[in-house]
This record gives sequence, C-alpha cells and structure tokens, in this order.
Amino acid sequence: MRDSLSASDECGPMTDVTFNFENRVAVVTGAAVGIGEATARAFSAAGAMVYLLDIDADRASTTGDVGTFLETDVTSIDSLARTFERITGDHGRIDVLVNNAGGFGVQATTETIDPSEWAGLIELNLTSVFLVCRAALAGLRNSEAGRIVNIGSLAGQTGGYRTSPAYAAAKAGVHSYTRVLAHELAADKITVNAIAPSAVLTERIIAVRDESERQATAESIPLGRYQTPEELAAWVLFLASAESGFMTGETIAVNGGRFMA
Ligand SMILES: NC(=O)c1ccc[n+]([C@@H]2O[C@H](COP(=O)([O-])OP(=O)(O)OC[C@H]3O[C@@H](n4cnc5c(N)ncnc54)[C@H](O)[C@@H]3O)[C@@H](O)[C@H]2O)c1
Repeated sequence: MRDSLSASDECGPMTDVTFNFENRVAVVTGAAVGIGEATARAFSAAGAMVYLLDIDADRASTTGDVGTFLETDVTSIDSLARTFERITGDHGRIDVLVNNAGGFGVQATTETIDPSEWAGLIELNLTSVFLVCRAALAGLRNSEAGRIVNIGSLAGQTGGYRTSPAYAAAKAGVHSYTRVLAHELAADKITVNAIAPSAVLTERIIAVRDESERQATAESIPLGRYQTPEELAAWVLFLASAESGFMTGETIAVNGGRFMA
C-alpha cells in the first residue's frame, strides 16, 4: 500500500510552482492554522503583503512572520468593517481575497442535527463568504486585477462523506455564489473562482478522524492519499495569479480523483 498520510512527489511537482505576488495585497480568512495558514505562507513566500484574518487570536504569534494578523470574526459585520477599514487604510486596495474560514463541526444527519447548529454552519460556511466579499468589495475594485478565491468542498458537489447536511448544503451554496459573484464583478475585471478540496490533512482532520478512518479515506481516493495543505495552497495561488485571468465562475475539483463530474 502507498504511504497514504503524507505527501509524495508521485503526482508531479505541484509544490515547485512559483508565482510572483510582489506588491500585491492578499487577504486570507481562517489563516491561523491548516489550509489558510499554508496559503498565507505561500503568498508571503511569493512576495505578497499578507493579512491573516482569524477569530483565534492565540495563534497570532505563530503566524507573525508571515504577515499582519488581524483578529476577525468572519460572521460579524462589525468585526469585518474594522478589519477592512484597517487594510484599505494601509494600502488603499485589496488584490486577492481568499475565503477559507469554515469547517463542518460534528458529523450529523438531518434527524440528529440541531437547528441551531444548522444555522451556525450555514453562517460560518456560506453567509460569511457573502459578508467578507461585501466588506472587501471597495478595496478589490481599487485593484488592477482583483481576485477572489473561495474554498468550497467536495461535500458541496456530492452531498458529503460523513460530514453534516448543513456543511454540504453551505458549500454547494459557496460554489453557486461563486458564479453569482463572477457575473456581478466581471465588469470590474475581478475574477471569482472556487476550489472544492476532498481530503486535506490538517490538524482539524487529525482531531476529528482517527487513524483507521483516515486510512479508509485515503484508500477511497484513487490517488491513494490525503492532499497536503501546501499542495492546495498552490492551487489558490494559481487562481489568484495573473495567469488565471481568463477564468471566472469556476469551481475546480482538486480531490485526487475521488469525484469526477
Ligand atoms: N481539510 C479538509 O480536508 C477540507 C476539505 C474540504 C474543504 N475544506 C475547507 O477548507 C477550509 C479550511 O479547512 P481546514 O481543514 O484548514 O480548517 P481548520 O479548522 O484547520 O482551520 C479553519 C480556521 O478558520 C478559523 N475560523 C473558524 N471560525 C472563524 C470565524 N468565525 N472567523 C474567522 N476565522 C474563523 C479557525 O480559527 C481556523 O484557524 C474550510 O472552509 C473547510 O471547510 C477542508
């Protein structure tokens, strides 16, 4: 059996891809850990001025070398207003916005999920994307080539594998809202795309899936392993780059072959 829980180069040199983001202002939500942190680090390494937005201020010290950490709740209109006032005050514009904050909470079904948990998951995974985009819009319009990248999920395409009905519905909403926003912002030359990952090995996944579950997941993926956060970050940088400028409204499935539309 292949090594299912670590990255290998057997799928090609994705992590060797380099982009130049010098003098670009990149904002990443949910950037304290996991995919968001890896994405913020990749933007920083590519020369961007990075803002890391997260509700978890305790992690700020571990990401201080990457960029500016701003304690922000992506579900709070007031918190977002303060944050984006600060960023546009610093630079007058936002070039890249990555809506990454989210997560599925506990595994549930329609019968077992509490309606308040349903509402909370829709708020965190879908409404937050709308609120953050609204707050960032003026700054993005001041960019010469604004980019929005939303992190969706395979769950939003298939209905999910052992997640939560609210999470799957919210992520499907993110994919749909990506297309809506792409239409709305095309005249401003702002592209809006999403990525639908399948299984990315982050701390959260390690916390909620024991080793045998992770092994079973890896074996259900044709490429036989989890994706690393750094590999996913490379896709975010591509969608944020000048090179991707003729694509908008698209959700890219980066899932190791687990679901092929
Ligand atoms: N890891 C996977 O396998 C996987 C698969 C598909 C999609 N995704 C999606 O990718 C994104 C990142 O996943 P991850 O595994 O890195 O998650 P994670 O739990 O490791 O990180 C999520 C981050 O979001 C932050 N956050 C939570 N609520 C917030 C709020 N209200 N305001 C601001 N920040 C908040 C958390 O503090 C944390 O730092 C999520 O949207 C998730 O749904 C992940």
